[in-house]
Amino acid sequence: MKKIVLSGVKPTGHSHIGNYFGAIKPAIDFTANDENLCFYFIADYHALTTLKNKQEMIDFSYDIAITWLACGVDPQKVVFYRQSDIPEVFELYWILCNVTPKGLMNRAHAYKACVEKNEEAGLDRDAGVNMGLYNYPILMAADILLFNSDVVPVGLDQKQHVEIARDIATYFNNKYGKVFKLPDVEIQKETATLVGLDGRKMSKSYGNTIGLFTTAEQLQKSINKIVTDSRLPSEPKDTDCALFKLYKLFADKQQTAEFAEKLKAGLGWGEAKKQLFEVANKVISPMREKYFYYQNHKSEVDAILAEGAQRARTIARKTLDKVRKAIGV
Ligand code: ADP
Ligand code: TRP
Repeated sequence: MKKIVLSGVKPTGHSHIGNYFGAIKPAIDFTANDENLCFYFIADYHALTTLKNKQEMIDFSYDIAITWLACGVDPQKVVFYRQSDIPEVFELYWILCNVTPKGLMNRAHAYKACVEKNEEAGLDRDAGVNMGLYNYPILMAADILLFNSDVVPVGLDQKQHVEIARDIATYFNNKYGKVFKLPDVEIQKETATLVGLDGRKMSKSYGNTIGLFTTAEQLQKSINKIVTDSRLPSEPKDTDCALFKLYKLFADKQQTAEFAEKLKAGLGWGEAKKQLFEVANKVISPMREKYFYYQNHKSEVDAILAEGAQRARTIARKTLDKVRKAIGV
């Protein structure tokens, strides 16, 4: 059945393999079905809540655009755009602000985490919180609802945001009649939360990532930093470890089964890391080539995004017309 699929990534840094397996790859897998209509974008106005440096905004926005393309977004098939090129998003955002209860935003995880941190530190509960951060989930609801999305593939940390988008759509529909579809979140069980080098959730904010598009040498270096236990070569090792979980993502079933056997038979961690590098690099190398190609051909990226914005705006305009009519403006 035809589905409208939508996802965005904030340009707040270089992508890591948690972003790839948690959000980018599941999104791209939806494009294999020609029936689906997919909208993927660079959520630059979402990044603005934390990113206040002009040059970083420019560089990271290209980086995320190029990452999507390198990972397999086909701009002929996918409506691929930059959020800030679609003014309709921000008009819808304002309308949605007016059906969203403030209490719903008070309960959003990112805001709540800031408040808790401030309270622990004995600061004002809203210290360092700007309205962009506070209203972030409403902007995300606008992204999602503007294109009548059925499915939103994201990592587990974004689940609540999609649920909030459903709530906001429901508030609007109850007040003005049914305009919006209720979107579903799509989370891959296996890759909902990838662990990083230190065993915590892999995240830019923890500095524990394995970069997606580094050089092969840097990839090997990151893999060498994965924390393992002190078992010696020849001692049997179980498969409940970060290293094995990562191997499984890059390898096929047979390779994974063989690797598990080798670990049980006592494969040393050093050798295991080399083997992880081999499978990871095999998957990443062709994408890396594309990534460096587009880094050197940014005008092609500009053209792709300009075309994507046009297509997106045509569709967005239709939803916004319906919404304006419903509210009487
Ligand atoms: P980060 O936490 O590194 O700043 P983002 O917040 O930019 O990552 O996340 C971009 C997308 O990647 C989101 O859909 C998010 O859910 C997903 N994602 C981020 N980290 C992970 C992870 N460790 N495992 C699975 N998915 C992740
Ligand atoms: N909030 C998402 C993140 O931090 C990015 C994002 C913005 C998004 N708008 C979206 C994801 C709409 C899915 C759908 O990763």
